[in-house]
Amino acid sequence: MRLAKYLASAGVASRRAAEEIVRAGRVTVTGVVVSDPAHDVNPTDSIALDGAPLTHAPARVVYAVNKPAGVVSTVRDPQGRPTVVSLVPSDTRLYPVGRLDIDTTGLILLTNDGELANRLTHPRFEVEKTYRVLVAHPPVRDQAIRALRNGIVLDDGRTAPAKIRRIAADTLELTIHEGRKRQVKRMCEAVGHPVRRLERVRFGSLGLGELKPGASRRLTAAEVARLSELTPAGAAARRSASASSAAPPRRRAGSAAPGARRRAAGS
Ligand code: URA
Repeated sequence: MRLAKYLASAGVASRRAAEEIVRAGRVTVTGVVVSDPAHDVNPTDSIALDGAPLTHAPARVVYAVNKPAGVVSTVRDPQGRPTVVSLVPSDTRLYPVGRLDIDTTGLILLTNDGELANRLTHPRFEVEKTYRVLVAHPPVRDQAIRALRNGIVLDDGRTAPAKIRRIAADTLELTIHEGRKRQVKRMCEAVGHPVRRLERVRFGSLGLGELKPGASRRLTAAEVARLSELTPAGAAARRSASASSAAPPRRRAGSAAPGARRRAAGS
């Protein structure tokens, strides 16, 4: 396994941050400083960070949190506002999987597995996120729905086609697989319906369910496995872990390989 990946899966930092840590010369492998994040390590190597041995990788944990408004989705906030990490009663070092705006509520995942967090937010895996959106200036007409479905030209390019369900005259359910900044708000604004309230109700295979605002729960092994399977690396790891299974990697129904879909979408 690559050194940076090992550090990320040990919960030391996200993969990118782990690469920086290695480049800074803070990591030794069997007593020798290694500054190449791609350096190959194996479980018998003794690896130390700033001189402190990493004895073994802690168990992977993933939490679902129902983020209330006013909470930031970063690990720390220089302005001292509450963070999603502070909502979880865990001693493990946790990282948010992606971001929600401070006024957005709903489902956000936290994990100590930087590698999993990386994969779930990487654009190439196109993990779907579903938002319930209360908009201004109802009713939302068919023309606006069509425009959202087809993709909207924003200042950072055209959005990929979205799945839209009209729940009420002023409420939509919108499913996208991109994670651009303020994307849902900008899409709705562009069709004349500024967002009044935004809640994420689904992240990939996981729904918000009955989780109360501010509450969190640790995901079961089966839920984590289903999330991992949304990315080919996760599927591959699970396949090699269960030698008895010869099943092919599962893909979401109707979806092609991520690379093929990306090319087809022109992004
Ligand atoms: N889209 C937004 O506009 N804001 C969020 O917080 C998430 C998606």
